[in-house]
Amino acid sequence: MKNVKKLKKQYSDVGISKDSVCTDPIEQFRLWFDQAVDSGIAEPNGFCLSTVSAASKPSQRTVLMKSCDHDGLVFYTNHYSRKGQQLAENNKISALFPWYELHRQINIEGTVSRINDQLSREYFKSRPRDSQIGAWASRQSETIASRHVLEQQQQEIEQKFADQEIPLPIFWGGYRISPDRFEFWQGRAHRLHDRILYIKKDKPGKDNQWEIVRLSP
Ligand SMILES: Cc1cc2nc3c(=O)[nH]c(=O)nc-3n(C[C@H](O)[C@H](O)[C@H](O)COP(=O)(O)O)c2cc1C
Repeated sequence: MKNVKKLKKQYSDVGISKDSVCTDPIEQFRLWFDQAVDSGIAEPNGFCLSTVSAASKPSQRTVLMKSCDHDGLVFYTNHYSRKGQQLAENNKISALFPWYELHRQINIEGTVSRINDQLSREYFKSRPRDSQIGAWASRQSETIASRHVLEQQQQEIEQKFADQEIPLPIFWGGYRISPDRFEFWQGRAHRLHDRILYIKKDKPGKDNQWEIVRLSP
């Protein structure tokens, strides 16, 4: 293994401040997301989703964000998977977009709720047929005797739905993250990085009030 201690990089000096960021973190997220897409980095919509079980045991995995608007960020998965079960027990999550090439990361915390089946159905319909079959064929997170079993399940699903539209499985669909905390991290020279934190304030009668503060790196 290479010497990890020698992997040091000097970061750029273009920073962010409380005054330069958008007042709404979703707008700031969308701005940085577009920049991440334009930069050509791999899987800019991939993020690490952390969930916590009822017994307070955390776990994490990569999922893909498929939309983001003022209602939150949406991803799709199997409801019966390990993460799906944990989300049913505890809807608090954290999400990390790690854009190393841009010397940026975005940390999000919030709660998750299932989107309605109609929206999941529309998204499922837009996926390639092979992916639709894959969603049906996989009992995500369950142990499986061999890859052969998985491929057999795939063939069975193909035959079952031959010449017809593949319906949305009842065990598959979207989740929306409603954020209550956003942190934007920008790498800066000499390890004096910028960290701008948005905290959602619950003010009666007022939606989406965010306090913006700077954190020490
Ligand atoms: C780049 C990448 C993107 C992924 N996107 C998804 C996704 O959108 N939905 C999903 O269910 N799994 C996705 N996965 C697989 C998950 O990381 C994970 O293995 C799977 O969801 C099972 O997780 P669980 O057992 O914790 O529920 C992706 C993995 C990678 C590496």
